[in-house]
Amino acid sequence: MDYIKRFAEDVREGLSSEPKYLHSKYFYDEVGDNLFKQIMELEEYYLTECEAQIFKNNKDKILDCFSNDGKVFDLIEFGAGDGMKTKILLNHFVDNKVNFNYIPIDISKSVLTHLTKDLNSILPELVIKPICDDYFHALEELNKIDYNKKVILFLGSNIGNFRGDNAIPFLKHLRADMSSKDQLFIGFDLVKDPRVIMDAYNDNKGITSEFNLNLLDRINNELGGNFIRKNFSHYPSYNPITGETKSYLISLEHQTVWLKGLSQSFTFEKWEPIFTEISQKYSLRDINHLANHSGFRVEKNFFDNKSYFVDSLWHLL
Ligand code: AVI
Repeated sequence: MDYIKRFAEDVREGLSSEPKYLHSKYFYDEVGDNLFKQIMELEEYYLTECEAQIFKNNKDKILDCFSNDGKVFDLIEFGAGDGMKTKILLNHFVDNKVNFNYIPIDISKSVLTHLTKDLNSILPELVIKPICDDYFHALEELNKIDYNKKVILFLGSNIGNFRGDNAIPFLKHLRADMSSKDQLFIGFDLVKDPRVIMDAYNDNKGITSEFNLNLLDRINNELGGNFIRKNFSHYPSYNPITGETKSYLISLEHQTVWLKGLSQSFTFEKWEPIFTEISQKYSLRDINHLANHSGFRVEKNFFDNKSYFVDSLWHLL
């Protein structure tokens, strides 16, 4: 199914459901990518800074864990974005003349072109082999052409955006494409003071609100919708029992929205929510559980100074 049909079907399904929902993967059009970059620079959004600190403070130890007795390894990054944090490690590995290939995988060609250009200019010695594909197809193809040790980076607590129990099937699928010498290096945002978490998803400048509302603009632009964005309001919530941080768009009035591309209208009651995103927060127990139930073993955890975030290194069980 082509991309726009998939988008239309997902929107139809989500807005016809009870309660209504939209997939957070659709946040990331050009405007959304830009807003997310701004979020990563916000004072309140501690995640990026914490992970960068983990890399800065542990680059030697991380290199020790990844290195393959001088033999080449593939450093594969899922959803590399602008590679800001990864650059800390790449820089260090290149400085130490480590024998590795950097393989960023992303579904967006423009993201990869940007990243490759940027890395070529600042780290000309880096061997970079970008793949524009979905994660699993790219891994399967890679497995056919090389037998190098693979270290897979899945950073930024992207795992937290999987809904329900979907993280486990994703990790199991990933595991099926890995061999016993390979490793997964995966970032998790940890449970902490609920107020710190709430602030991260409800920043003062309103950028996160813009990011959430952009989903309605995107539906208007790409599916011919007539959403009026001021009729919806960004609402984040955190449940300290489950660690679920959920974002919603709340309908501020009774209203009907027409989506030309779907030839369908959708009615929203006053105060009705559209669930748009989950950003799961984890305890160390949750992380062990997730690893063990998807066929992995936690080898080592790297924390920032406040223990807000962890990068967890996993082996096959
Ligand atoms: C990409 N992802 C890990 C971010 C998060 O924290 O869940 C997306 C985000 N949503 C609101 N702010 C940032």
